[in-house]
Amino acid sequence: MKGLILAGGHGTRLRPLTFTGNKHMIPIANEPMLFYGLRHLASGGLREVGIVLGDEHEGIEEAVGDGTPFGLKVTYIHQGAPKGLAHAVACAREFLADDPFVMYLGDNLLEEGTAPLVAQYRASPADAIIGVTPVEHPSSYGVVEMDGDAIVSIAEKPAQPKSNLALIGVYLFSPKIHPIIAGLAPSRRGELEITDAIWKLHQSGGRVAVRRVNGWWKDTGRPEDLLAANDLVLRSLPPERFRNEGTVGPRARLRGSVRIGPGSTVADGAEVEGPVVLGANVTVGAGAHIGPGVAVGDRCTLEGGTVHRSILMEGAEIRGPVTVTDSILGRAARVTSRRTRPEALTCVVGDATVIELGPDS
Ligand code: G1P
Repeated sequence: MKGLILAGGHGTRLRPLTFTGNKHMIPIANEPMLFYGLRHLASGGLREVGIVLGDEHEGIEEAVGDGTPFGLKVTYIHQGAPKGLAHAVACAREFLADDPFVMYLGDNLLEEGTAPLVAQYRASPADAIIGVTPVEHPSSYGVVEMDGDAIVSIAEKPAQPKSNLALIGVYLFSPKIHPIIAGLAPSRRGELEITDAIWKLHQSGGRVAVRRVNGWWKDTGRPEDLLAANDLVLRSLPPERFRNEGTVGPRARLRGSVRIGPGSTVADGAEVEGPVVLGANVTVGAGAHIGPGVAVGDRCTLEGGTVHRSILMEGAEIRGPVTVTDSILGRAARVTSRRTRPEALTCVVGDATVIELGPDS
C-alpha cells in the first residue's frame, strides 16, 4: 500500500493567508503542518509516500528530503495548476501503479491518524474507505447522506446539505478509482472532484465503506482552525516532547507541560502555563505571561505582555502591556504597546508586519 499527500493549492477553502511560503509549512505546535500527515502515514505502516506539489511549493522538499527522518521513502509529484483533488491523483498515476493507497490532504489533522483506516482495509478490503464526521456547516465540505450503513448520496459542497456528515480529507482507495477519475468532467468550481469520483465509484457498483472517525479532526483552511488545531495538538503531545533544554530563572513560574528549547531563557518573574512549547533561542522577559495553548517559534521575544491560545512564528515579538489571545503572528511580526494600561488584542498578523499601540493619549 502507498501513501499520497496532497500539498498543492487544491480547494476553494484554501483561503489566502497573510503568511509567505507554502501553507502546508505553517507551524502547528512548532512543527510544519505537513509533518503530521507524514507521521500519520508512517504510523499507519506505510513506507512509500508521494507528495503532490502545486505551483508554489517553497520549502517542502528542503524540509522533508527523501523522507528518511520520517521512516518513509518520499517521491515528489508535480501537479502544477490546482485542477482538483482527483486531478492530483491522476498526476500520481504512475507512482501509485496498481497499489491501494491512502490519500491524505496535507492541511488536515486528525487525532486517530491513519492506522485505524489501514487496519479496516486489511480486515475488510473495499474500493474506497471514506472518513466522515459530523460538522456544523456541512455545505463547506463533501457531504455523505446515509440510511443506516447504506450510502444514499455523496455531494461536494452542496448548497442544501442532506446531512451533517462531512467527508474528512483522508481516504483509502483501491486502483478501481483510476478509470473513474479518467472519466470525470470538471465540477462547477472547475475542478476534478474526488467526491464525484467516489460517488461514481459507488454508483458503478464499487464497494465504498464509510468510516466514522474517532476523536477530533481539523481542516486548517482558516485562521481559527489553525488555532484550534494548535491547541488540540499541544494538548495531545506526549510528555517526552515537553523537555526543558533552556534556562529558567529560579523565580520564574512554570505550570503544566512546558517545552523550552535550547538556548531559550525564561526570566525571573515570568509565568508560563502549559501546554506551551517554546522553540530555540526564545527570550521570555520578567513580566511576560504565556499560555495555556501557545506555540512560540524559534528566536521569538516576549518582553511583558500576556499570550493565550496563539501561534507565534519564528522571530515574532511581543513587547509591552498587551494581552494577545487567539492570535497568529507571522514570521518576524511585531506587536508592541507603549500604553500604561494593558490592551487586549486578537489578530492575525502577517510576516514582518508591525502593530504598534502608541502611548496613552
Ligand atoms: C476537500 C474536499 C471535501 C472535503 C474536504 C476536507 O475540500 O473536496 O470533500 O470535505 O477537503 O478537508 P477542499 O479543501 O478542496 O475545499
